[in-house]
Amino acid sequence: ATATMILDQAYRIGDVDDRLFGSFIEHLGRAVYGGIYEPGHPEADDDGFRQDVLALVKALHVPIVRYPGGNFVSGYNWEDGVGPKDQRPRRLDLAWKTVETNQFGANEFASWAKKAQTKVMMAVNLGTRGPDAARNFVEYCNHPGGSYYSDLRREHGYEEPHNIKLWCLGNEMDGPWQMCQKTAHEYGRIAYEAAKMMRWVDPSIELVLCGSSNMEMPTFAEWEATVLEYAYDLVDYLSIHVYYNNFANDIESFLAKSVDMDQFIRSVVAVCDYVKAKTRRDKTIYLSFDEWNVWFHTRETDRKMPPWQIAPPLLEDHYTFEDALLVGAMLITLLRHADRVKIACLAQLVNVIAPIMTETGGRAWRQTIYYPFLHASLYGRGTVLQPAITAPTYTVAYNRSLSWWNQELGLEKIGHREIPVLEAIGVLSKDQQELTIFAVNKDQQNTLDFTCDLRGFGAYTVSEHLVLEHADLKATNTADNPDCVKPHNNGDAAVQGTTIKASLPKLSWNVIRLT
Ligand code: AHR
Repeated sequence: ATATMILDQAYRIGDVDDRLFGSFIEHLGRAVYGGIYEPGHPEADDDGFRQDVLALVKALHVPIVRYPGGNFVSGYNWEDGVGPKDQRPRRLDLAWKTVETNQFGANEFASWAKKAQTKVMMAVNLGTRGPDAARNFVEYCNHPGGSYYSDLRREHGYEEPHNIKLWCLGNEMDGPWQMCQKTAHEYGRIAYEAAKMMRWVDPSIELVLCGSSNMEMPTFAEWEATVLEYAYDLVDYLSIHVYYNNFANDIESFLAKSVDMDQFIRSVVAVCDYVKAKTRRDKTIYLSFDEWNVWFHTRETDRKMPPWQIAPPLLEDHYTFEDALLVGAMLITLLRHADRVKIACLAQLVNVIAPIMTETGGRAWRQTIYYPFLHASLYGRGTVLQPAITAPTYTVAYNRSLSWWNQELGLEKIGHREIPVLEAIGVLSKDQQELTIFAVNKDQQNTLDFTCDLRGFGAYTVSEHLVLEHADLKATNTADNPDCVKPHNNGDAAVQGTTIKASLPKLSWNVIRLT
């Protein structure tokens, strides 16, 4: 099979915001305790932060990490997690039915973020709490001193403000699983008031408004339109979340999910622009895709987890090779929308549906999905070029889940659709010196003979053609076999004049780097 892509310097989608390669740490399972924080571990530093995990995080160059939730944040009292550790309360976390010891909180996370060379994206609780707790939290984190909460921070040993610039106004407030779920009108009003007061405390912050939890929500689109009408002038971004699964064990439909993601982004952009038109605004709302990943391997076992444990192993999906292919295709989809998606967080970062796994007290390793994320983060910054792609297609049944949180409700059959076997994009580096092509071949049988026409570009040479491929779709990396799935750089990409020729192996993730 053959496929072609044309890239032209003059045809550009937009500049990539570095925050497109963000991630997420929630107080959930072993993400914090036994993940990034484990005093007493042989690798722990003076703060109790695991240095083996820090090294794996730093290598990813994650620019921003969302914290502390997720569903957890909708019941969180931020005050519980600051001040002397022996006075911090143990609380029942109703989101994940665990016991939260609060031995790690906002100050520890700010210190960890510094060591991880990343920035904090903080979420406030608009579930059980509201605008008052939110504005106090901004004061605690960002006000220099001379007020109750800023002086409290200084008493707690943090003289300098954390200067957290990006804040989420709650999390998935439309979901019945959320503590204090709200209607769009209830949420819109509260988010508006919280945003107003948070900005009065620190006018330099940026704010993310909650969109729907996913496209299957019954209020999808109407929710976005309603909450934006309340808060349009006070927010910068609208959140969007998605998790895909392969419960059907059908690789073709699974790899087609990046097309759903594309449609989801287009739909949310359309609603943002509808509100812009309706309210005669000049300002554009951008998207914060602050939860995205594959998530399904552990859903059944998690349901059976006995409640009220401290840091139990929840959502510890062991990612397969095929999961890495979809994650790669999703990264390409995000890049294709770099003009509107400014922030994205791979959910999550350590242990919980994560690229990095650890044993409590033991080793740390890279999951399969670590690699496409690493490559995109390292080489996907700059300007995204508008590709013109010609590729064969395959046909899949187009089904819509009737409910995201209740698999038993089943699927609605909509029809069939054609999925291109090639998902690809080109990114020109910030200094214009390097051009990187990311490509997934979704074909199960055939190598794709790929030609990329680089019209308008000067002479390039191939510096590297990285390939992630594996004979076993279900192969995973484990503590004992951490390198079972990892990329090689023996791809055959070569320059012929102003075109690049490459064989993209069946079912593979490819990174062709040109300098
Ligand atoms: O990332 C896991 C959970 O997924 C988050 O807590 C929630 O926001 C989403 O439903």
